[in-house]
Amino acid sequence: MRIAVLSDIHANRLALEAVQVAIADAQPDHIVVGGDVINRGPEPRACLLAVLACQADENWLTLKGNHEDFVLMEAAGRLVDSGWMRKLYTHTHWTMLRVRDLLPAVETWPDTRSIIGPNGSEVRFVHASMRSNRHGLYEEMDEPQLIELTSPLPSVLVAGHTHVPFIRQVNSTLIVNSGAVGMSFDGLQQASFALLDWKDARWHAQIVRVDYDHTAAEEAFFSTGYMADAGVMAPLILDEWRKARPRLGPWHHRYEQRVASGELTIEESVAMLLQEEGAAPAFRHW
Ligand SMILES: [Fe+2]
Repeated sequence: MRIAVLSDIHANRLALEAVQVAIADAQPDHIVVGGDVINRGPEPRACLLAVLACQADENWLTLKGNHEDFVLMEAAGRLVDSGWMRKLYTHTHWTMLRVRDLLPAVETWPDTRSIIGPNGSEVRFVHASMRSNRHGLYEEMDEPQLIELTSPLPSVLVAGHTHVPFIRQVNSTLIVNSGAVGMSFDGLQQASFALLDWKDARWHAQIVRVDYDHTAAEEAFFSTGYMADAGVMAPLILDEWRKARPRLGPWHHRYEQRVASGELTIEESVAMLLQEEGAAPAFRHW
Protein backbone atom coordinates (compact mmCIF):
# COMPACT_ATOMS: atom_id res chain seq x y z
CA MET A 1 0.00 0.00 0.00
CA ARG A 2 1.21 3.50 -0.83
CA ILE A 3 -0.27 6.73 0.59
CA ALA A 4 0.57 10.29 -0.51
CA VAL A 5 -0.01 13.16 1.93
CA LEU A 6 0.01 16.80 0.91
CA SER A 7 -0.71 19.68 3.26
CA ASP A 8 -0.54 23.45 3.61
CA ILE A 9 -1.15 24.42 0.00
CA HIS A 10 -1.90 27.99 1.13
CA ALA A 11 -3.55 29.13 -2.07
CA ASN A 12 -0.43 28.47 -4.15
CA ARG A 13 -1.85 27.02 -7.37
CA LEU A 14 1.42 26.43 -9.20
CA ALA A 15 2.93 24.55 -6.27
CA LEU A 16 -0.23 22.41 -6.01
CA GLU A 17 -0.16 21.60 -9.73
CA ALA A 18 3.52 20.58 -9.53
CA VAL A 19 2.78 18.30 -6.56
CA GLN A 20 -0.23 16.79 -8.35
CA VAL A 21 2.10 15.76 -11.22
CA ALA A 22 4.63 14.24 -8.81
CA ILE A 23 1.90 12.37 -6.92
CA ALA A 24 0.45 10.99 -10.17
CA ASP A 25 3.94 9.66 -11.01
CA ALA A 26 4.12 7.96 -7.59
CA GLN A 27 0.82 6.10 -8.18
CA PRO A 28 -0.41 5.99 -4.59
CA ASP A 29 -3.44 3.97 -3.47
CA HIS A 30 -4.71 6.84 -1.30
CA ILE A 31 -4.17 10.62 -1.34
CA VAL A 32 -4.76 12.73 1.78
CA VAL A 33 -4.87 16.53 2.00
CA GLY A 34 -3.91 17.69 5.48
CA GLY A 35 -5.61 21.10 5.52
CA ASP A 36 -4.68 24.75 4.96
CA VAL A 37 -5.70 24.57 1.32
CA ILE A 38 -6.82 28.20 1.43
CA ASN A 39 -5.67 31.49 3.00
CA ARG A 40 -2.21 33.07 3.29
CA GLY A 41 -1.77 33.05 -0.49
CA PRO A 42 -3.14 34.53 -3.72
CA GLU A 43 -5.14 31.77 -5.48
CA PRO A 44 -7.51 30.26 -2.90
CA ARG A 45 -10.40 29.61 -5.27
CA ALA A 46 -8.36 27.74 -7.88
CA CYS A 47 -6.74 25.60 -5.17
CA LEU A 48 -9.99 24.83 -3.40
CA LEU A 49 -11.77 23.95 -6.64
CA ALA A 50 -8.90 21.63 -7.59
CA VAL A 51 -8.97 19.85 -4.24
CA LEU A 52 -12.77 19.55 -4.24
CA ALA A 53 -12.67 18.10 -7.77
CA CYS A 54 -10.07 15.53 -6.71
CA GLN A 55 -12.11 14.74 -3.60
CA ALA A 56 -15.16 14.07 -5.79
CA ASP A 57 -13.50 12.35 -8.75
CA GLU A 58 -10.39 10.65 -7.31
CA ASN A 59 -11.41 9.94 -3.72
CA TRP A 60 -8.89 12.34 -2.19
CA LEU A 61 -9.40 12.48 1.57
CA THR A 62 -9.46 15.99 3.00
CA LEU A 63 -8.87 17.49 6.46
CA LYS A 64 -9.58 20.94 7.84
CA GLY A 65 -6.62 23.08 8.90
CA ASN A 66 -6.54 26.13 11.15
CA HIS A 67 -6.69 28.38 8.07
CA GLU A 68 -9.94 26.76 6.96
CA ASP A 69 -11.19 27.52 10.48
CA PHE A 70 -10.10 31.17 10.15
CA VAL A 71 -11.97 31.56 6.84
CA LEU A 72 -15.08 29.79 8.16
CA MET A 73 -15.06 32.01 11.24
CA GLU A 74 -14.64 35.12 9.10
CA ALA A 75 -17.59 34.05 6.92
CA ALA A 76 -19.66 33.64 10.07
CA GLY A 77 -18.58 37.05 11.40
CA ARG A 78 -16.85 35.44 14.39
CA LEU A 79 -13.14 36.00 13.64
CA VAL A 80 -12.66 39.50 15.00
CA ASP A 81 -15.02 42.38 15.65
CA SER A 82 -13.30 45.70 15.05
CA GLY A 83 -10.27 47.92 15.53
CA TRP A 84 -6.71 47.10 14.54
CA MET A 85 -7.45 43.34 14.60
CA ARG A 86 -9.58 43.80 11.48
CA LYS A 87 -6.42 44.89 9.66
CA LEU A 88 -4.63 41.76 10.85
CA TYR A 89 -7.26 39.59 9.20
CA THR A 90 -7.97 41.61 6.05
CA HIS A 91 -6.14 38.92 4.07
CA THR A 92 -8.51 36.29 5.51
CA HIS A 93 -11.48 38.46 4.55
CA TRP A 94 -10.03 38.71 1.02
CA THR A 95 -9.83 34.91 0.88
CA MET A 96 -13.33 34.45 2.30
CA LEU A 97 -14.86 36.70 -0.38
CA ARG A 98 -13.32 34.49 -3.07
CA VAL A 99 -14.44 31.11 -1.73
CA ARG A 100 -17.62 31.90 0.22
CA ASP A 101 -19.90 29.77 -1.99
CA LEU A 102 -17.59 26.76 -1.56
CA LEU A 103 -17.40 26.91 2.25
CA PRO A 104 -20.29 24.49 2.96
CA ALA A 105 -18.10 21.75 1.47
CA VAL A 106 -15.09 22.83 3.54
CA GLU A 107 -17.19 22.80 6.70
CA THR A 108 -17.72 19.05 6.31
CA TRP A 109 -13.98 18.29 6.38
CA PRO A 110 -13.02 16.47 9.58
CA ASP A 111 -10.07 17.25 11.90
CA THR A 112 -8.74 13.68 11.89
CA ARG A 113 -8.83 10.74 9.52
CA SER A 114 -7.37 7.25 9.60
CA ILE A 115 -6.61 4.61 7.03
CA ILE A 116 -6.31 1.05 8.28
CA GLY A 117 -3.41 -0.58 6.51
CA PRO A 118 -2.04 -4.12 6.33
CA ASN A 119 -1.86 -6.02 9.64
CA GLY A 120 -4.53 -3.68 11.01
CA SER A 121 -2.01 -0.84 11.34
CA GLU A 122 -3.54 2.61 11.80
CA VAL A 123 -2.20 5.46 9.69
CA ARG A 124 -3.68 8.63 11.20
CA PHE A 125 -3.76 12.10 9.68
CA VAL A 126 -4.15 15.40 11.54
CA HIS A 127 -3.46 18.99 10.52
CA ALA A 128 -1.10 19.89 13.41
CA SER A 129 -1.30 17.36 16.26
CA MET A 130 -3.82 15.49 18.39
CA ARG A 131 -4.00 18.47 20.77
CA SER A 132 -5.44 20.89 18.20
CA ASN A 133 -5.01 22.13 14.65
CA ARG A 134 -2.70 24.89 15.97
CA HIS A 135 -0.21 22.90 18.06
CA GLY A 136 2.41 21.64 15.64
CA LEU A 137 4.96 18.83 15.77
CA TYR A 138 8.64 19.73 15.49
CA GLU A 139 11.57 17.43 14.87
CA GLU A 140 13.52 18.80 17.85
CA MET A 141 10.76 18.00 20.36
CA ASP A 142 11.70 15.40 22.95
CA GLU A 143 9.96 12.02 22.95
CA PRO A 144 7.55 12.72 25.85
CA GLN A 145 6.33 15.87 24.05
CA LEU A 146 5.84 14.02 20.78
CA ILE A 147 4.04 11.17 22.52
CA GLU A 148 1.73 13.60 24.32
CA LEU A 149 0.86 15.37 21.06
CA THR A 150 0.27 12.19 19.05
CA SER A 151 -1.49 9.89 21.56
CA PRO A 152 -3.24 7.52 21.42
CA LEU A 153 -0.27 6.30 19.40
CA PRO A 154 -1.10 4.89 15.95
CA SER A 155 1.35 3.00 13.72
CA VAL A 156 1.92 6.18 11.70
CA LEU A 157 0.88 9.75 12.47
CA VAL A 158 1.14 12.32 9.67
CA ALA A 159 0.78 16.07 10.27
CA GLY A 160 1.57 19.34 8.52
CA HIS A 161 1.03 22.86 9.90
CA THR A 162 4.62 23.78 10.79
CA HIS A 163 5.68 23.87 7.13
CA VAL A 164 8.90 22.06 8.11
CA PRO A 165 9.05 18.38 7.11
CA PHE A 166 10.60 15.61 9.22
CA ILE A 167 10.39 11.88 9.89
CA ARG A 168 10.94 10.43 13.36
CA GLN A 169 10.39 7.03 14.91
CA VAL A 170 9.08 7.24 18.50
CA ASN A 171 8.66 3.84 20.11
CA SER A 172 6.59 1.89 17.61
CA THR A 173 5.08 5.01 15.99
CA LEU A 174 6.40 6.62 12.84
CA ILE A 175 5.80 10.39 13.08
CA VAL A 176 5.86 12.28 9.80
CA ASN A 177 5.49 15.97 9.08
CA SER A 178 4.83 16.23 5.36
CA GLY A 179 5.93 19.89 5.15
CA ALA A 180 4.07 22.45 3.06
CA VAL A 181 3.06 22.40 -0.59
CA GLY A 182 2.72 26.14 -0.99
CA MET A 183 4.84 27.86 1.62
CA SER A 184 7.87 26.06 3.03
CA PHE A 185 9.46 27.36 6.23
CA ASP A 186 12.70 25.39 6.12
CA GLY A 187 14.49 27.80 3.80
CA LEU A 188 14.04 25.57 0.73
CA GLN A 189 11.83 27.16 -1.92
CA GLN A 190 10.31 23.85 -2.98
CA ALA A 191 6.97 22.21 -2.44
CA SER A 192 6.96 19.27 -0.04
CA PHE A 193 4.80 16.18 0.40
CA ALA A 194 5.12 12.74 1.99
CA LEU A 195 4.89 9.20 0.66
CA LEU A 196 4.17 6.28 2.97
CA ASP A 197 4.83 2.71 1.85
CA TRP A 198 3.99 -0.59 3.49
CA LYS A 199 7.01 -2.78 2.72
CA ASP A 200 8.63 -5.71 4.52
CA ALA A 201 5.81 -5.77 7.06
CA ARG A 202 6.24 -2.18 8.24
CA TRP A 203 5.56 1.40 7.22
CA HIS A 204 8.29 3.51 5.59
CA ALA A 205 8.10 7.27 4.95
CA GLN A 206 9.86 9.63 2.59
CA ILE A 207 9.63 13.36 2.03
CA VAL A 208 9.51 14.42 -1.63
CA ARG A 209 10.51 17.95 -2.68
CA VAL A 210 9.23 19.45 -5.92
CA ASP A 211 10.35 22.51 -7.88
CA TYR A 212 7.84 24.88 -9.43
CA ASP A 213 7.85 28.15 -11.35
CA HIS A 214 8.69 30.83 -8.76
CA THR A 215 8.51 33.73 -11.18
CA ALA A 216 4.93 32.85 -12.11
CA ALA A 217 4.03 32.08 -8.48
CA GLU A 218 5.24 35.50 -7.38
CA GLU A 219 3.38 37.11 -10.27
CA ALA A 220 0.14 35.67 -8.87
CA PHE A 221 0.52 37.75 -5.70
CA PHE A 222 0.18 40.84 -7.92
CA SER A 223 -2.04 39.76 -10.84
CA THR A 224 -4.80 38.51 -8.52
CA GLY A 225 -4.99 41.81 -6.63
CA TYR A 226 -3.69 40.17 -3.45
CA MET A 227 -0.93 42.72 -2.84
CA ALA A 228 -3.28 45.61 -3.58
CA ASP A 229 -6.32 44.46 -1.61
CA ALA A 230 -5.40 41.80 0.98
CA GLY A 231 -4.30 44.34 3.54
CA VAL A 232 -1.36 45.25 5.72
CA MET A 233 -0.15 41.67 6.30
CA ALA A 234 0.11 40.84 2.57
CA PRO A 235 3.75 42.07 2.33
CA LEU A 236 4.70 39.80 5.25
CA ILE A 237 2.99 36.86 3.56
CA LEU A 238 4.79 37.54 0.29
CA ASP A 239 8.07 37.87 2.20
CA GLU A 240 7.63 34.57 4.04
CA TRP A 241 6.83 32.83 0.74
CA ARG A 242 9.89 34.41 -0.93
CA LYS A 243 12.31 33.52 1.86
CA ALA A 244 10.70 30.20 2.84
CA ARG A 245 10.81 31.44 6.45
CA PRO A 246 7.90 32.37 8.75
CA ARG A 247 6.98 36.04 9.12
CA LEU A 248 3.43 36.06 10.54
CA GLY A 249 4.47 33.98 13.55
CA PRO A 250 7.39 36.27 14.43
CA TRP A 251 5.07 39.26 14.01
CA HIS A 252 2.69 37.86 16.65
CA HIS A 253 5.62 36.99 18.90
CA ARG A 254 7.37 40.37 18.72
CA TYR A 255 4.82 42.99 17.79
CA GLU A 256 1.27 41.97 18.65
CA GLN A 257 1.43 43.28 22.21
CA ARG A 258 3.11 46.53 21.12
CA VAL A 259 0.34 47.14 18.56
CA ALA A 260 -2.40 46.10 21.00
CA SER A 261 -1.07 48.56 23.60
CA GLY A 262 -1.04 51.41 21.08
CA GLU A 263 2.75 51.77 21.17
CA LEU A 264 2.96 51.10 17.40
CA THR A 265 0.49 51.08 14.54
CA ILE A 266 0.14 47.77 12.74
CA GLU A 267 1.59 49.42 9.63
CA GLU A 268 4.67 50.53 11.57
CA SER A 269 5.12 47.06 13.04
CA VAL A 270 5.00 45.40 9.63
CA ALA A 271 7.54 47.85 8.22
CA MET A 272 9.85 47.17 11.19
CA LEU A 273 9.62 43.41 10.82
CA LEU A 274 10.29 43.58 7.09
CA GLN A 275 13.51 45.47 7.82
CA GLU A 276 14.72 42.78 10.20
CA GLU A 277 16.87 40.18 8.56
CA GLY A 278 16.60 36.50 9.34
CA ALA A 279 13.46 36.24 11.46
CA ALA A 280 14.21 33.54 14.05
CA PRO A 281 14.15 30.29 12.06
CA ALA A 282 13.31 28.16 15.11
CA PHE A 283 10.20 30.19 15.92
CA ARG A 284 7.06 28.10 16.48
CA HIS A 285 4.67 29.60 14.01
CA TRP A 286 1.06 29.49 15.16
FE1 LIG B 1 -0.29 26.11 7.24
